[in-house]
Amino acid sequence: MRKQNPKSYEYIESLMMPESALMGTARSHAKDLGLDAISVSQTEASILKFLIGANGCKKVVEIGTLTGLSALYILEALPADGRLWTLEKSAEHIEKASDVLAEEITKGRCVIVGGDALEKLPTLNSAGPFDAIFIDGNKAAYLKYFDWALENVSAGGLILVDNIFLAGAVWGDQTLQRFNEKQILNVQTMNKKAFTTEGLSTTIIPTSEGLLVCKKN
Ligand SMILES: C[S@@+](CC[C@H](N)C(=O)[O-])C[C@H]1O[C@@H](n2cnc3c(N)ncnc32)[C@H](O)[C@@H]1O
Repeated sequence: MRKQNPKSYEYIESLMMPESALMGTARSHAKDLGLDAISVSQTEASILKFLIGANGCKKVVEIGTLTGLSALYILEALPADGRLWTLEKSAEHIEKASDVLAEEITKGRCVIVGGDALEKLPTLNSAGPFDAIFIDGNKAAYLKYFDWALENVSAGGLILVDNIFLAGAVWGDQTLQRFNEKQILNVQTMNKKAFTTEGLSTTIIPTSEGLLVCKKN
């Protein structure tokens, strides 16, 4: 769980209801994989859920499933007839997420799309436009994911992108975590594009990771 502002996150989370048993399973699967640090925190997940719910979203795409934790939060925000397509390339992660999301998959509310997201995204075009697109996959592909999202988000829909600070690397600080030039340039370009594209209202929620929030007018 990412907590670079431990006190504020601790305080916010002390006010929240505990996470569900399934969310706990998603977190322990991520821990087993040694990847619990890259799952959304409860605070970040609650922001995601709030935005998707408040915007009345029904059809959502997520890029980067990991063990299904953020997917569970998104699904909680959707109506009974809502649907989430979540894309993941790692077979190991898909196995863990399939366990956590089994009930939602059976109900037809969730589809895990296996494979490289850049190859798989075009296969979803015919199911769109989508009311929200949450980008949390390969950082070096963020700009391409964002371009796909611009084409496939509905009018009034949201594009949400996690980790857009790259642990400070977007403003030149590489002390916390090292990112390569391609990743940094990619995310910097996407962030600028988000603020300069006509027909988009954009802001950044300054979580420790940085959450880019765009609404198509
Ligand atoms: C930060 S984690 C996602 C965390 C998840 N959204 C959560 O909070 O529960 C990023 C995920 O993206 C996946 N990923 C990385 N590159 C990918 C690609 N090219 N296509 C699809 N998934 C990819 C990784 O395997 C990893 O599971």
